[in-house]
Amino acid sequence: MDELIELKEVYKKYKSSTDWVLKNISLNIYKSTIMFICGPSGVGKSTLLHIIGLMDKPDKGEVIVKFLKENDASDLEHIRLYNIGFVFQYHYLIENLTIKENILLPNWAKKQRHIKLEMDDYIKECIKVLGIEHTLNRYPYELSGGEQQRAALARALANRPKLVVADEPTGNLDQKNAENVICLIKELRKIYNISFVIATHNISLTKYGDEVIHLKDGKIER
Ligand SMILES: Nc1ncnc2c1ncn2[C@@H]1O[C@H](COP(=O)(O)OP(=O)(O)O)[C@@H](O)[C@H]1O
Ligand SMILES: [Mg+2]
Repeated sequence: MDELIELKEVYKKYKSSTDWVLKNISLNIYKSTIMFICGPSGVGKSTLLHIIGLMDKPDKGEVIVKFLKENDASDLEHIRLYNIGFVFQYHYLIENLTIKENILLPNWAKKQRHIKLEMDDYIKECIKVLGIEHTLNRYPYELSGGEQQRAALARALANRPKLVVADEPTGNLDQKNAENVICLIKELRKIYNISFVIATHNISLTKYGDEVIHLKDGKIER
């Protein structure tokens, strides 16, 4: 199986604390797989996701990006912008932009000088799979919680990522909407071969994953 990202003996602590939040974490993110990261609040799920998503760096150990080609840029910001999408517990859609404008934001970040509101066939298809065509000209407050999270998912997909990192994406949803979002993630994985790494404390959702990692005391409990 193709590997996207490998973590090798990763340790992380925050400046304000002497304790390690993550201790000796080694794992592989493979292409087109859904990995759940589970554990109670405060165990280090978000910290691990930020490292996997190249938003933060470990204090010890290595994060190896395996999908780069020879001529690709090697700075992390560039790699992240072009290859990784993010979804968070609160949708973080921008309230004074329509859903369509929100979804197209990551593309604006890439092509700073060519701001246009056109959706290519790929993003149109994502929006259709996610069932949010009817929301495109609305503002975030005019959507239900489930629709807001599906719009946030569409935005995470807009830059055609290889990997989507989702931090408690269903944390604010009821069980039915939570399962719906996870089933859509499965569908998107099938269509686009995207990998998803999803932090959750809702153990009942992990049956939809290919791989489940439990964090305890900053370590992977195997
Ligand atoms: N930016 C930060 N600065 C200092 N400590 C932090 C920071 N972010 C998280 N922590 C601490 O690291 C630990 C793990 O946090 P986090 O990764 O957010 O856990 P989870 O997502 O599993 O709830 C907690 O004890 C938290 O207080
Ligand atoms: Mg968290």
